[in-house]
Amino acid sequence: MSATMPRTESVFEEFSDAKRKIQEVFEQIKEQIEAVQTFIEHVVTIDTDHVLSSDTIGDLNELVVKVTGVHEILSRDQMKVAFFGRTSNGKSTCINAMLWDKVLPSGIGHTTSCFLAVEGSGKPNPYIITEDGEEQAVEKVQKLAHALSGAAEKLTEDSLIKICWPKNKCRILNAEVCIVDSPGVDVTPDLDLWIDKHCLDADVFILVANAESTMMQAEKNFFHKVSECFSKPNIFILHNRWDASAQEPDMMDEVRAQHMERAEAFLTDELKIYNSAEAQNRVFFISAREMLNTRIARTKGIPENPNNFPDGFKSRQLEFEEFEKKFEECITRSAIATKFSQHVSGGESTVKHLSKMLANLNTSALVVRNIANDEADTQKMRKNFNKEQMEKVTKKVHEQISTITDNVSNQVAAALDI
Ligand code: GTP
Ligand code: MG
Repeated sequence: MSATMPRTESVFEEFSDAKRKIQEVFEQIKEQIEAVQTFIEHVVTIDTDHVLSSDTIGDLNELVVKVTGVHEILSRDQMKVAFFGRTSNGKSTCINAMLWDKVLPSGIGHTTSCFLAVEGSGKPNPYIITEDGEEQAVEKVQKLAHALSGAAEKLTEDSLIKICWPKNKCRILNAEVCIVDSPGVDVTPDLDLWIDKHCLDADVFILVANAESTMMQAEKNFFHKVSECFSKPNIFILHNRWDASAQEPDMMDEVRAQHMERAEAFLTDELKIYNSAEAQNRVFFISAREMLNTRIARTKGIPENPNNFPDGFKSRQLEFEEFEKKFEECITRSAIATKFSQHVSGGESTVKHLSKMLANLNTSALVVRNIANDEADTQKMRKNFNKEQMEKVTKKVHEQISTITDNVSNQVAAALDI
């Protein structure tokens, strides 16, 4: 992590901690299932009367596949934020400011021409992955995703390019956040397709509005559609280009109040997702460009000169940082609740299923032992095992079964505590 970047400790870590704990639980559940598998295979060799149900081994294999699948999903799980707004409002610049670098193409006019997801990568150099899975040089993004590139291979607006950026360069990517940039909501008639393709797993939505004008109907329509798909979406509204207000200081407070009033009415009366106080906590007045330039300079070690700060710069900077803090808290809590609770309940049902099988196995093992105790049958069993060996094996099975049951229920209780 760069020495210039502040705040290494953050609420983001709660997500990674929770993820690690749940992964450990699933690893242990898998270990327990495999232990049961080993014992069943052992019991089968002495169960010449086929007391054990033939489904047991198949059921256990299915459980292993299920648990391995959840473990894989967990390893890919990340927090996701999606940025929307009209063309040129500063979506890409705002993301770049949060990433402390010019990661995404930005510029005047219509720039971003398809979806771009920025994710942390363990590799030292950035690269991109297109929808067909092809890995390409990061510079290619200008050709594929810039509206003005004119390149033949330019992608359609609902396509997605993944930008894999070294996570050690940026704490937000290091914290397993995926940031999605989009073309302006005014450039497509098919907003439903955008939501279906790119947003259904988003934890937070950010509307980047233009403080020099006002929130547009195209932007509102998009968020109406979002709130049809999510029961209570997490939305932040950033009034960007607030540096422009420094040019008209006499009107600044009134303009701010006007924007705030409209944004609040949108979140409360129209979308009906927040009350008034909550809504006010979701609205910020920022300058993404100032923030990006300041952060790039800081990363390069260029000293700041407060005498050169434009009017109101410091308060815009503080407001941007305040937005980032609230955003971190919101996305972390929301992602833990939505992404992991389903895995925890899946783990719980797996364990219940396993316990049921263990109870059946317990009964079967007793039957196997009873058969062995019966003199006539013992003769039959002796073909494979003598009575003493049989006693030993079944005793061990019983001990292991109760240990496994205890372990599994302890682990699930720990997972539910997260
Ligand atoms: P599209 O990709 O075309 O939808 O635009 P976008 O919303 O991603 O906007 P982008 O980040 O490309 O910014 C558009 C232009 O606005 C660029 O020239 C930015 O430098 C400029 N810009 C972005 N943020 C600010 C800001 O806070 N203040 C000012 N003055 N200009 C800004
Ligand atoms: Mg853009």
